Amino acid sequence: MNQFIPLAKPNILEKDIALVIDVLRSGMLVQGKYVDELEKSFVHNTGASYASALSNGTATLHLALIALGIKAGDEVIVPAFSYIATANVVELVGAKPVFVDIDLATFNIDVTKIEAVISSKTKAIIPVHEFGLACDIEAVMVIAKKHNLFVIEDSACALGALYKNKHVGSFGNFGSFSLHPRKAISCGEGGMLITNNLDLDKKIKILRNHGTEIIDGKMDFTEFGFNYRMTDFQAALVVSQLDRLQNSINYKNELADIYFSEIKSDKIQLPFVPNYTSHTWQTFHVVLDESVNRDEIIIKLKENNIGANYGAQCMPYMKSFKEKYKYNCETLFPNALKAYKQGLALPIYDLVNKEQINYISKTIKNLIP
Ligand SMILES: Cc1ncc(COP(=O)(O)O)c(C=O)c1O
Repeated sequence: MNQFIPLAKPNILEKDIALVIDVLRSGMLVQGKYVDELEKSFVHNTGASYASALSNGTATLHLALIALGIKAGDEVIVPAFSYIATANVVELVGAKPVFVDIDLATFNIDVTKIEAVISSKTKAIIPVHEFGLACDIEAVMVIAKKHNLFVIEDSACALGALYKNKHVGSFGNFGSFSLHPRKAISCGEGGMLITNNLDLDKKIKILRNHGTEIIDGKMDFTEFGFNYRMTDFQAALVVSQLDRLQNSINYKNELADIYFSEIKSDKIQLPFVPNYTSHTWQTFHVVLDESVNRDEIIIKLKENNIGANYGAQCMPYMKSFKEKYKYNCETLFPNALKAYKQGLALPIYDLVNKEQINYISKTIKNLIP
């Protein structure tokens, strides 16, 4: 294979670009008609009642915590394995992230371990639908209801993912999505926040816009808000990508089937899909046996023109959290640590073809017999 196969590449078509040009020519660059259209499409696609377009996925999680009143002294439960933003936002509102290990088969929070860490300070759970696979959100909701906790579903990677035929993000108080280039659809930087609660939705729309509210026809500032708005040309870039989402998920399932049939090794743990959901394959993530040097494999794949990388972080193992809380990750979060140290994300997206997936599989077979 002469051509380098990157780990990810967004599928931007000329018709998507044409809509961006439309915005640039209109002069209405921020919060215009495409933001409005994108929000309506998210409501339609996810089945949630309301949607807000924001500047990125991290901003959606941050505002969700603020809107729910999470503050210093509170604790928020998060899986130990995710992109670092999931835990950073808890720190950013002054609260403490309380980590729970993951199930190594699904890479999602181990729901059997949540109740043990609930204290009188616990206010919310942020379950993550990691790599495009729904977590056991029904079990999370049962625990949240029993202990009167808020739920913010971090669905950054899981647009299009269903749990028992209901879209992820629509179970909790909020569902958060990212539109970063590694995600199912992308406008560079962007985020969407869905909710079924009108008051929460109003609060988000006020907070994303400097605290602006119209009262009796007059503009006033009623909260200490942020500028977390999405530009209209970003929204324009993703509205038509959303129409192609299901086709893209179907295609990625065909690619995953090739990996499943071609990669067979005692030293490689393939992804597992529980029967309550189907996978949307934001990432095809495998775990290598501890006898295999994962970082060396990444380098060797690159030498063979294949982009691969680790999948996500064991967050309490990162310097910022390790220095603050001094967790013993080896004993507290062994699965998250193994997924971080031995996990390998492989290419799976619209612009990679089946021949390339076969080539990647064959190369891996040669490298890890
Ligand atoms: C699970 C998870 N949460 C949050 C984020 C943050 O999203 P963004 O990069 O759009 O801020 C990401 C992005 O990679 C993610 O994977």
